[in-house]
Amino acid sequence: MKEAEARLVEALNGIAADTALVLGSGLGGLVDEVENLVRVSYADLPGFPQSGVTGHAGEVVAGHLAGAPVVMLSGRAHYYEHGNAAAMRPALEVLSGIGIKKLILTNAAGSLEPDMGPGSVMLIEDHINFSGTNPLFGEPSDKRFVGLTEAYDPGIRAALQKSAMETDTELFKGVYMWFSGPSFETPAEIRMARVMGATAVGMSTVPEVILARFLGMRAAACSVITNLAAGMTGSELSHQETKDMAPLGGKRLAAILKEYFRAGGNA
Ligand code: HPA
Repeated sequence: MKEAEARLVEALNGIAADTALVLGSGLGGLVDEVENLVRVSYADLPGFPQSGVTGHAGEVVAGHLAGAPVVMLSGRAHYYEHGNAAAMRPALEVLSGIGIKKLILTNAAGSLEPDMGPGSVMLIEDHINFSGTNPLFGEPSDKRFVGLTEAYDPGIRAALQKSAMETDTELFKGVYMWFSGPSFETPAEIRMARVMGATAVGMSTVPEVILARFLGMRAAACSVITNLAAGMTGSELSHQETKDMAPLGGKRLAAILKEYFRAGGNA
């Protein structure tokens, strides 16, 4: 067993989660709702990312959310920090190693739909990887030819939609297009993204979903919309805006996720 895996198993002290959440911007509040809280700093887990993005801590949080065991990754590595699309691979391998079967990712994103404004929550149904890179570059085994026809698990998606209905929370659906960042898109890139079928744009999640599928985990993801994408309003985009606006949709998404766990998730 890897050192990080052994340390995590020890810290979890019997918490038997089969689902992990990756907390994006605005979802930090969920940590406060976890009971029997266990926290392990990424610094103590070899291979875990030492992320430097403001607004993203770096720790594994585990315990019970709405009565169900869960592991949360608070803080993630982004491709734009170092140009390594596989930066989350060691952490996801550890999660898989400790028995995580379902990975639910959250992120902040810009919307291409005027009606899906800041504060909205979008269930990702599919993605577009137009980045030219892939976290499985260099993977030698034939497992690298991973199918992505149902990358976003239909069962988990249905359960999340049910949870949104139960909590009277509007849940948009759409296609997330991954841009490398860290610069935001240009208005021309956003027009291109729209033609290509994107509903939202963001700088994370896609490499993690590819890795999760590679590792045999079921994956799902939701975006909290922090802004209309470049060129859709008169104003310039900023990371400050992302941080300021993320908690709005984050609260809505937290309600959906809590209900998902309360209802027993998706078997
Ligand atoms: N583009 C890319 N990533 C983002 C955006 C955006 O407009 N908003 C939040 N994350």
